[in-house]
Amino acid sequence: MASTVVAARGRAGETSAPAVEAQGLARRYGTVWAVHDASFRLERGQFLTILGPSGSGKSTLLKLIAGFERPDRGQLRLFGANMDGVPAHRRPIGMVFQRLALFPHMTAAGNIAFPLEMRRFDPREIPARVARFLKLVRLEGLGDRRPHELSGGQQQRVAIARALVFEPELLLLDEPLASLDVRLKEEMQLEFRRIQRELGVTTINVTHDQREALVLSDRVIVMARGRILQEGDPETVWRNPAHPFVARFLGVGTMLRGQAEPGPAIRIGDRLLPGRAPNPLTAPRPGQPAVAALRAERVRIGTTGALTENGTRLAARVADVVFEGERVLYELVVPELGEAQLRAVDLDPGSHARHRPGAEITVSWSPDDLLLFDASLDPGSDS
Ligand SMILES: Nc1ncnc2c1ncn2[C@@H]1O[C@H](COP(=O)(O)OP(=O)(O)OP(=O)(O)O)[C@@H](O)[C@H]1O
Ligand SMILES: [Mg+2]
Repeated sequence: MASTVVAARGRAGETSAPAVEAQGLARRYGTVWAVHDASFRLERGQFLTILGPSGSGKSTLLKLIAGFERPDRGQLRLFGANMDGVPAHRRPIGMVFQRLALFPHMTAAGNIAFPLEMRRFDPREIPARVARFLKLVRLEGLGDRRPHELSGGQQQRVAIARALVFEPELLLLDEPLASLDVRLKEEMQLEFRRIQRELGVTTINVTHDQREALVLSDRVIVMARGRILQEGDPETVWRNPAHPFVARFLGVGTMLRGQAEPGPAIRIGDRLLPGRAPNPLTAPRPGQPAVAALRAERVRIGTTGALTENGTRLAARVADVVFEGERVLYELVVPELGEAQLRAVDLDPGSHARHRPGAEITVSWSPDDLLLFDASLDPGSDS
């Protein structure tokens, strides 16, 4: 079995099969489908992020790929080879977990050498290879330290070097940055990106941090309740969320409920708001309940500037003003939409007058920015 995997790895383009092909993968615990009918493919050298809330099945999907769990249904191919019955240690995979599990009694260099010893690399080659990977993660000169003598970020780097040192074809990351503070996290995200590009290793990263997904990835998968709701490149997922859950999860700011009308449009009270349905599969049917997602930064404040064709302009009252440093967030109430709440942001607060709570202002947006969905798909604000 090992030889099939090795043959299928095909480093020098022996085969052009994708890195990952999952077809209807599913895993059940008791009566709960932790992963349900997961199908996707990932090309070689790409960076994929699986994004979703806690309990959505991200880790389970990663474990199915790693071989730590067996699927109840479906099929997985890695680099063209069928993984049925192939145990984890025979798969061409390196993995970094949220809890790092470095060996505390071993030095950084010892930790990095460990997978090489396990795989019976030539002992004469090991020191040079360990030195090369210490350099890759920028820990030159720190190889003799034990984990407790290293900072959190340095420990993460040891774990990354340990996962990569035997040059796996596929790197799996299960929220390895979740416990770091924001600045270190952002630094390590860029570090991941650099290392991934330098080595060209196909990578699957799991996170519930949407910013991380957008920053790092060539491809993004959004999961909820064990299902893949959307797969695409970061910009497409950001601009065209295919499902109201994805829109909520990516933080669009405002969700308005009403009734679907042809156009497409949504009717709220007496007002007809033209919009766009990003995906025919989740589009609302005229006459049925609809939900509209509107990103706060696409709402224009004030009456200056022409209204886009078919655009919407409404009077609003400022309910709250939140200064966030580089931007100001307005919580608004719109009487004409039945006192609906709406969010808007001023992205250049230094150049604009600040509106105070109680102020009457005007807001407008283009129909392109009002995303319409079938309301029965919307999980509501509490999930
Ligand atoms: N070994 C297990 N036994 C029973 N249920 C499990 C097991 N592992 C996971 N589950 C359940 O499967 C579902 C998916 O869990 P999973 O760990 O894949 O989620 P996740 O997206 O990684 O969440 P988190 O962001 O919290 O890590 C959850 O409902 C979880 O309770
Ligand atoms: Mg998890």
